[in-house]
Amino acid sequence: MGTTAGQVIDFEDAVSNLNIDSHSFDTLALHAGAVADPTTGALLTPIYQTTTYRQEAVGKDKGYTYSRSANPTVSALERRLAALEGAEYCTCYGTGLAATTALCLALLQAGDHVVASQAVYGGTVRLLQQVLGPFGVTAEFVDTADEFALRRALAEKTTKFVFIETPANPTLKLTDIAKTARIAHESGALLVVDNTLLTPALQRPFDLHADVVLHSTTKFIEGHNATVGGCLITRDQALHDRFSFTRNAIGAIQSPFPAWLTLQGVKTVGLRMAQHSNNALVIARFLEAHPRVTRLLYPGLESFPQFELARKQQTSGGALIAFEVEGGVDAGIRLMNSVRLCALAENLGSAETLITHAASMTHADVPAPQRQAAGITDGLVRLSVGLEDPLDVISDLNQALDDRRAA
Ligand SMILES: Cc1ncc(COP(=O)(O)O)c(C=O)c1O
Repeated sequence: MGTTAGQVIDFEDAVSNLNIDSHSFDTLALHAGAVADPTTGALLTPIYQTTTYRQEAVGKDKGYTYSRSANPTVSALERRLAALEGAEYCTCYGTGLAATTALCLALLQAGDHVVASQAVYGGTVRLLQQVLGPFGVTAEFVDTADEFALRRALAEKTTKFVFIETPANPTLKLTDIAKTARIAHESGALLVVDNTLLTPALQRPFDLHADVVLHSTTKFIEGHNATVGGCLITRDQALHDRFSFTRNAIGAIQSPFPAWLTLQGVKTVGLRMAQHSNNALVIARFLEAHPRVTRLLYPGLESFPQFELARKQQTSGGALIAFEVEGGVDAGIRLMNSVRLCALAENLGSAETLITHAASMTHADVPAPQRQAAGITDGLVRLSVGLEDPLDVISDLNQALDDRRAA
């Protein structure tokens, strides 16, 4: 491009002009949105660790004025994530919950109503009920897999959006995305899908008529337990403009360094999701056959109650397994305290296998009756299967499930 060191980068020229429509998912994961740095030739989009940007004249800038509004490293990640979901627009945030907060503040006013899946991430419930409730927003949590319950909730009040998580965290209950989009749209509501648990590698909500896709990029998108982050993706420019405005107004943008780490992590999301699913299937079969496991839920197994829906809308089972051990809560806690390779930790979606107790950890802030109604029983253990050899994970679980230890 003929630039010299120190010369100002022309981002318009530098943005990769990859043809999004003609490349496969794995190619897009590596290349979409990358900025080929014309100053140095650096292959990776640099970390633009800057607060502000020199302007040529008043009103004449290169699209960046202040890093709370936009930052080139974050923009590169946004282009890539939009391409991977098959959409045009994306805004990235400091955490997944910051993305959910921006979504709510962009779309809701006092008096507005939201319908959400009964089993969603506990932080989503806390935000809607405890933070937005006092501002006059009402949220109803229903079994969105139950068409009748969904239609009844939508008929009761004018609803701005339906928020679903499928599979839901931690029960792995599925919601039919295409059907829910149709029902939501008939009522004039938007459909928002939290696609964190599967990523676009395994599930494509926009092909099923979702309006907004949300991710906690903290999980499988970045994939290495190295960052927190979130994003909102849409095909609708007017919605995107509202998200961008709100993000700037509340100051919730992601910082350049975690955006850069996420740009590296997401390169392998297709490979990782395939391997996570293969490993999880092997481990789920082991757990299902184990005499001390009383209940096991994994969407990739035929025994899963919504196996047919899983086959219809996701390309494999994903990394998450939910199960209960004979002996209830105490036995579950003993199991989690006995694992050695699996880490007892609050997160999911990383290369390392993580084990979590929903009632005392991720969903501790959800009131007990609401947890029970959502199927989050007190003994439910969530396993986020990583990329270790599955036989090593099985041997760890086997020793932790040993009767003499956990009985
Ligand atoms: C499905 C889902 N959505 C959203 C979030 C919130 O993301 P973050 O922890 O990045 O704020 C989480 C966190 O666990 C989650 O599991």
